[in-house]
Amino acid sequence: MEKIIIFDTTLRDGEQAPGASLTSEQKLEIALQLEKLGVDVIEAGFPIASPDDFKAVSDVSKNIKKSIVCGLARCISADIEAAHNSLKKARHGRIHLFLATSKIHMRYKFRKAEDEILALAKKSTREARKLCDDIEFSPEDSTRTERSFLFKVIETAINEGASTINIPDTVGYSYPQEVYSLISDIKNNVPNINKAVISTHCHNDLGLASANSLSAILAGARQAHCTINGIGERAGNASLEEIVMAIKVRKDVFCGLYTGVDTKNIYNTSRMVSSFTGFLVPPNKAIVGKNAFRHESGIHQDAVLKKKDTYEIMDPADIGVTGSQQIVLGKHSGRHALSSRLKDIGFKLNDSQVNKVFQDFKKLADKKKEVFDDDLVMLVEEETRKKRKIYELVSARVRTGTDIVPEATVRIKYKNDITESCSTGDGPVDACFKAADKLIGIKSELQDYRLEAVTRGKDAIGEVNLKIKIKDKVISGRGSSTDIIEASLLAYLNAVNKYVI
Ligand code: KIV
Ligand code: ZN
Repeated sequence: MEKIIIFDTTLRDGEQAPGASLTSEQKLEIALQLEKLGVDVIEAGFPIASPDDFKAVSDVSKNIKKSIVCGLARCISADIEAAHNSLKKARHGRIHLFLATSKIHMRYKFRKAEDEILALAKKSTREARKLCDDIEFSPEDSTRTERSFLFKVIETAINEGASTINIPDTVGYSYPQEVYSLISDIKNNVPNINKAVISTHCHNDLGLASANSLSAILAGARQAHCTINGIGERAGNASLEEIVMAIKVRKDVFCGLYTGVDTKNIYNTSRMVSSFTGFLVPPNKAIVGKNAFRHESGIHQDAVLKKKDTYEIMDPADIGVTGSQQIVLGKHSGRHALSSRLKDIGFKLNDSQVNKVFQDFKKLADKKKEVFDDDLVMLVEEETRKKRKIYELVSARVRTGTDIVPEATVRIKYKNDITESCSTGDGPVDACFKAADKLIGIKSELQDYRLEAVTRGKDAIGEVNLKIKIKDKVISGRGSSTDIIEASLLAYLNAVNKYVI
């Protein structure tokens, strides 16, 4: 059996998605989850880009034991040094160098000729290799690079010590047959290619990122770059869950290939990334979308009841989706029942976390007769968000109606002080946000607001996802509650707290 190395770039290319900024604390949490998921390489950031990115890569390096931790660098000495410094504490560190090689990039971005680019590739790979044993080299925009030049660049990088050659479809322009022939050509024309692992990095501008990555694998690539939920620059990157599950489900096509991913952790990881980035997973998203395993048509439902395989090509439990339709707990359930259910869903919480979730669970069970797995997921996520609470919601009261001006009274805790403020607004939610702004002393602009029922029934938990702009920063927030006003304020304060942090 041959392993496909899973290189996750959620924290680097994924975070480049417009509006998806993560704090270094959140990055570390995601990295720990990625390690639990079993990814082989975690690209934790672009250390020269900002002090925050540098810190994120250093924090991840300190805490990750099994996976390789990778930092991105341009072919510039300062970048290479920053990547090296940020990876100092890593058990297994990798520097990922990239340099554009297509005519359009060389001419307009760099104003450099082929021989200058080749010299830069040589110099930088050598420099990086002196500092780190594990070097990955990406000729950026490979799929639009002239083949003969691409072969020369790859050969040079390998000669200077690169042990992984990544082939990016930077602008998501290729289709699967083209990628297949490109990887085959690299194998046939680069004399020293057997000294390196070929990797694929596909963007989703034409919706082909995962298909292209799988095609590269069929042609001989043995590492795939991907992100959770397919987030990333523009239309995103190839999604981890799609690549991993395609290899697992289509063993007949991907004969003798496997990944080290523990697929039962895919759903949790997807939820975490969605929660931290504020990027909702579309309901029809393959593998992790809410509808991915739902059958609406009577004909399908009937057939699935007779034999699941008629319309289900994989078992939802394989990605960690467990009986969300099942009533799991109620108000008489105890701490032990809750703790064991949380374990079954895939959460590893310590005693004090279980105790806190239990308190919230009891409050919820008082409001809701039936508590589902999805409800528990929301409670755990709310608990995780609480860790980052600087401003904390104490209470909110609204007076609203079709014939009065909505009015809100909000109480917020900051450090040990509780203060209260009132405001009117265009609606009850607007009034609440205005009252909160007065207490916090900020001016914010609401850019996006979505409310969704995430569990079932009239007493379902509502989840609010929003984006606010404070000064020139756009920050996402998420909050959930059976009360939509509370969910809105929790989401709002979640975003404000991220801003303050
Ligand atoms: O898309 C791209 O080309 C990249 C490189 C940095 C590998 O993200
Ligand atoms: Zn990319």
